[in-house]
Amino acid sequence: MKFGYFDDSRKEYVINTPKTPYPWINYLGNQGFFSLISNTAGGYSFYMDARLRRITRYRYNNVPLDMGGRYFYINDNGTVWNPGWSPVKTELDEYECRHGMGYTIIKGKKNGLKAEVTFFVPQNYDGEVQQVVLTNEGSEAKDFAIFSMAEWCLWDAQDDCTNFQRNFSTGRVEIEDSTIYHVTEYRDRRNHYAFYTVNDTIDGYDTDRDAFLGSIYNGWDNPETVKAGKASNSFADGWSPIASHYKKITLAPGESKTLIYILGYAENPQDKKFASEKPANLLTREAWVLNKEKAYAMIDKYNTPEKVAAGLEELRTTWENLLSIYKVDTPDDKVNRMVNIWNQYQCMVTFNLSRSASYFESGIGRGMGFRDSNQDILGFVHQIPERARERLIDIASTQLSDGGCYHQYQPLTKKGNADIGGDFSDDPLWMILSVASYIKETGDWGILDANVPFDDDPEGKHTMLEHLNVSFYHIVNNLGPHGLPLAMRADWNDCINLSCFSDTPGESFQTYTNPKFKAEGGYSKIAESVFVAALFTYTGPAYVGILEHLGKADEAAKAQAEIDKMKKNTMESAFDGDWFLRAYDANGEKMGSKECEEGKIFIEPQGFAVMSEIGKEEGADIKTLNAIDKYLNCEYGLVLNNPAFTKYYIQYGEISTYPGGYKENAGIFTHNNAWIICAEAYAGRGEKAFEYYSKIAPAFTEETSDIHKTEPYVYGQMIGGKDAKNFGQGKNSWLTGTAAWNMVAISQYILGVKPEFDGLRVDPSIPAAWDGFTATRQFRGDTYEITIKNPDHVNKGVKKLTVDGTEVEGCIVPVAGDGKTHQVEVVLG
Ligand code: GLC
Ligand code: GLC
Repeated sequence: MKFGYFDDSRKEYVINTPKTPYPWINYLGNQGFFSLISNTAGGYSFYMDARLRRITRYRYNNVPLDMGGRYFYINDNGTVWNPGWSPVKTELDEYECRHGMGYTIIKGKKNGLKAEVTFFVPQNYDGEVQQVVLTNEGSEAKDFAIFSMAEWCLWDAQDDCTNFQRNFSTGRVEIEDSTIYHVTEYRDRRNHYAFYTVNDTIDGYDTDRDAFLGSIYNGWDNPETVKAGKASNSFADGWSPIASHYKKITLAPGESKTLIYILGYAENPQDKKFASEKPANLLTREAWVLNKEKAYAMIDKYNTPEKVAAGLEELRTTWENLLSIYKVDTPDDKVNRMVNIWNQYQCMVTFNLSRSASYFESGIGRGMGFRDSNQDILGFVHQIPERARERLIDIASTQLSDGGCYHQYQPLTKKGNADIGGDFSDDPLWMILSVASYIKETGDWGILDANVPFDDDPEGKHTMLEHLNVSFYHIVNNLGPHGLPLAMRADWNDCINLSCFSDTPGESFQTYTNPKFKAEGGYSKIAESVFVAALFTYTGPAYVGILEHLGKADEAAKAQAEIDKMKKNTMESAFDGDWFLRAYDANGEKMGSKECEEGKIFIEPQGFAVMSEIGKEEGADIKTLNAIDKYLNCEYGLVLNNPAFTKYYIQYGEISTYPGGYKENAGIFTHNNAWIICAEAYAGRGEKAFEYYSKIAPAFTEETSDIHKTEPYVYGQMIGGKDAKNFGQGKNSWLTGTAAWNMVAISQYILGVKPEFDGLRVDPSIPAAWDGFTATRQFRGDTYEITIKNPDHVNKGVKKLTVDGTEVEGCIVPVAGDGKTHQVEVVLG
C-alpha cells in the first residue's frame, strides 16, 4: 500500500494523506540553521547543535507521536482546521504534502478555503521561511482568522525537558509590532535570541502557552483562543513562552492573500547585545532592550513574495548543481530516482547531522561519531569536496598520536568527547578509507601534507599522512593470539562487546569494562575481530596506493606485507569452511561459526573478505557469498546474523539483549547489506547484487509502505528481520551510514563508475537483462558522458572502452584535465 508517489520531475515525494504509518519527515537547511518537518508540519528547529541550541520545543515519544511543530490554525466561522491536518485533525477536503530538496509544501483545503504553506531555510540564512498562500476558492466572500504557533525551547534541549524547577521561571520575551522575540537568559550569559515574525500587521498575539491554550487541560488540538477566534494578547513571564500571531482576513471569491512568516535565529557580539533606547511600541517587562539589528536585516531579506521566490530559486539551483555531478539513466526508474535524487539528498543530510537529530535520535544524545562521519564522507565527497576536506581535518584532529580515536566528537567545539571513550577497534580504518576516497575524487594529494594535530599533541606539527600511518599501524600493533586485530570495546558492531561481561542494569555496554580486563589495559587481549581483519585488508591497499604515489616504495612494501600477513592469518584461523568467523571471544572461543549453537553466521566480515580476495584461489569468495544467500537472505533484505540469539550471552555483550530480529540481533541492518551488494558486484554476480539492492532501496519499498512504515524515499538503519514479529518494518530512518554505503554500492559497484587515484573506473556489474545505461559524471573539472552497452546481456566484463572514440586498455578512463566534456563508451561482453 502506498501513501503517495514520487514526482521525479520536481524531485519531490508527494504524500496524499496525513495519516502515514509513521511521520514522514524532511530536513530544511544545510549549513547552520536546521529544521525537521513532518508531513503534518510537526518537528522543530535548532542552530548547529540540536542539543545546545534548540530553538523550538519538541516532545519525543509523545502521545500522539508527532506532537509539536510550527502550526497554522484557521478559524473559518467556527470550523477550526490546520493546513497539515494536525493537531486539530479536522477532516480536510484536500490535503497534500510535497517533500522536496530542502523545502516542504503542505496544502490543505476546507470549505472552499485553500491554504498552501511553503517551508524552507534559504541558503546562507539562519531562519525558516514559511510562506502561507490563502485562497478563497468558493463563490462567496470569506471572513476568517489565522493563528500561527511556535513553542520556544529554552535553548539547551536536555535541560529544557528535565530541569523544570528552574526553567518554569526563566522564560522571557519582547514584542515589537508583528515580531515576537525569544530572549530567555539573554540578559545574563547568552548572546543569541530567536524571533518569529509575519510581514503584515496583526490583530493580536499570544506569547504565553497556557493563555493560548486557555487551560492547562487543553492540548495543541484544542486551543481556546483559536476556538474563540481571538488572541488573548498574553505576555509570557516564565512558564512556557510561545509565539503566536493572530490575523483576521477577508477574501472575496477567487481572491488570494500571501503572508510570510519567518522563524529566525541570531547572535550578537558581546559588546552589542543591547539597544540603547527603548522604542515606544516595544512590549517588554525588562529594563534592558535587545539589539535587534540582525533580526531586522533578516526580516528584510524575505519579507515579500518576490524575495521568497528568489530564495526558493536559489535553493533549487543549488540542488540542481549538486545533483548534476553524478546522474544516471538506467532502465529502472526506481534506481534512477534513488541515484539521481534521494540517495544523494540523504547523504547530504547524514553528512550534516551525523546521528544527532531525527525522529529516532533525540538530538540530545550523542555527538558526532568518528566512524560514522568518516563513512558519511564516502557518499557525500563528490557533492562539496571542500566541506569534506574540512570535515576530514576536523575529525583527524581528534585522533590520538598512537592512532587510537575518541569514538565521538562535538561539532561545536570540534573536540573529541570521552562520553563513550575510545578503543573501538575499527575506528582508525575508516579514516584511511575516507581520506583515500577524498583524494580519489579530487586528486588533491595536498591534503596529505596538511597540518593536522593530534588530540594529545595539539601544538605539534603533524600531517594527514602521519594520521594515516598511525591508523594503519594501530591495527598492526594490536593483534591477538591468532594474529588477528584485537576486538577491544567493539568494532563496527557497537553491540559486540567482548570485554564487557555485564550483569548489572545500567552499565553501558560500550564503556563498561569487566574488572578482569582492567589490568590488561581496558579490554581483553584474547578477543579478536575478524571484521576488523577484513576491513584492514580492504582498506589497507588504499594506504599502500598512497605511499606508492608518493614514491615511498619501501614503506609501501612494508605495509603490503602486513596486509598479506593479515590475509594469511584470516584464512588460516578465521575461515570456517563456508564463510568467515565473526570473532574470537575473550575465552578464545569462535563466534559466528558452524560450531555455535546460535549466531552461526554473521554478515559483517564477509563482504570485505570477499572484496579483499581472501582465499579466493580456494573458492572462499563464492562459498561465502552462497552461504549469505542461504542463511541471511530473506524477503526484505539480509539479516545481520543467523540464527538470532534467543539467550543472553554474557560474553558477547549488547547484541543478545535485543529480541531476535531487531537491531544488531538478526535485524536487517541495511548498512552492512551494502557491503554484500558491493561484494556480489565485485565478484561479477550482478543479478544477486541487484536483488539485494532492490530489497532495501527505499523506492522499492514504496508499494509495501504499510509494512515498511518509514519514508519510502530514504534509508533507515534497520528493518525487522525474519525472526521479528514485525518482519519488514523499518526503523531509525534518515541518519544512518546506509545512505553513504548504498550510494557507494549502487553508483560505484553496480553501475560501476568509481573514482580511483589515477582516473575514473567504469566497470559495471548489472542485471543481464539490461541493454545498458548512460551516466554523466563530473570528475576533477571534466564531464564524462558515459554510455554502457550490453549487447551480449552479461552481468560484468568490459570488452571495449573508448574515450572520445579512442580505445583505452583496461577500464580506467584517464583524467583529461581540460575542463571539457568527453564521450566514454563501454561495451560489455
Ligand atoms: C549505529 C552506529 C554505528 C554502528 C552501527 C552498528 O548505526 O551509529 O556507528 O556501526 O550502529 O552497531
Ligand atoms: C546501541 C545501539 C547501536 C548504537 C550504539 C551506540 O548499542 O544499539 O545501534 O550504534 O548504541 O550509540
